[in-house]
Amino acid sequence: MKYARLTGSGSYLPDKVLTNHDLESMVDTSHEWIMARTGISERRIAADDEFTCDLAEKASREALHVAGVSPGQVDLIVVATTTPDQVFPSTACLLQQRLGIRGCPAFDVQAVCAGFIFALDVANRFIRTQGARCALVVGAETFSRIIDWTDRGTCILFGDGGGAVVLQDDDRPGIHSTHLHSDGAYKDLLCVPTGVSRNYEAVKSGTAYTTMAGNDVFRWAVTAMSALVDETLEANGIGRDDVDWLIPHQANVRIINAVGKRTGFPADRVIVTVNHHGNTSAASVPLALDESIRNGKIRTGDTVLMEGFGGGFTWGSALLTL
Ligand code: COA
Repeated sequence: MKYARLTGSGSYLPDKVLTNHDLESMVDTSHEWIMARTGISERRIAADDEFTCDLAEKASREALHVAGVSPGQVDLIVVATTTPDQVFPSTACLLQQRLGIRGCPAFDVQAVCAGFIFALDVANRFIRTQGARCALVVGAETFSRIIDWTDRGTCILFGDGGGAVVLQDDDRPGIHSTHLHSDGAYKDLLCVPTGVSRNYEAVKSGTAYTTMAGNDVFRWAVTAMSALVDETLEANGIGRDDVDWLIPHQANVRIINAVGKRTGFPADRVIVTVNHHGNTSAASVPLALDESIRNGKIRTGDTVLMEGFGGGFTWGSALLTL
């Protein structure tokens, strides 16, 4: 059986920076409050004429370049997004057309902030069963479009961005294991309660916004992501010292610190990038991974435990050696 190896990564953040000081003029908040409660200092916002597929395309082209793979070699495209350009076709099909790829399966995965891990799991299974040899896996979001910019409880947290990886088949791992979970019993704690089939009026009037029970989500995120670390280590028969880097979902520095503390990961082995791009939902993990590879923190041969947590709830992890 083949393994899936990560051979390239890329990411993209829109040019427009929205700082905490900018937010002070939009809602009743302060830079100090946001820093103390979230650790986020700024986030990026897509231009009016910039869409999720644009972010996905930029990240994907970079990942393909790093992998030394031409678009024609890609035989699977999976895009994780909660904010697709259109109802249909999928953002993956739009991306496929942009990249000039024809015929291979391309589809979206919707697991909100855990979406990239879910997409990675799907692509890993394709490669392991030899249904694909070269997969492009993307997390991209224009989350700013589903944020109520008058709600200080949510607007301080989120931003836009895209991240992508190329997975190729290999005789060595690669991805060692993936672990996915969902529980719809918590559907109301973090959601956009309107959509296409239900209350489409809100979508048409531009008021389909994210709502969140912040404290409950915080607690759940810490509990679920801590348990995922244990589950992943146990499944692979390894200890935390066998893992070089932990990349938790980039939602809030306090959540990341709490997960590090609970699982015994020292802070210098936990990746934090949320401070300068906010919570970019499905893009958060590939953004953090790509930035850490580019700045030389994460190197070839390192073992990385990545994990996501999002609305649904959905949560999942992946253990891989680069
Ligand atoms: N600026 C200033 N004050 C704010 C504020 C803001 N942006 N947002 C809330 N407050 C106020 C509240 O109104 C409350 O005031 P009160 O005590 O007078 O009622 C006070 O600050 C404390 O609110 P609370 O909600 O308890 O704060 P918190 O420490 O839990 O932080 C979040 C709020 C949203 C930052 C935090 O709950 C969180 O990060 N939750 C998880 C969010 C997340 O990561 N979601 C995505 C997961 S995928």
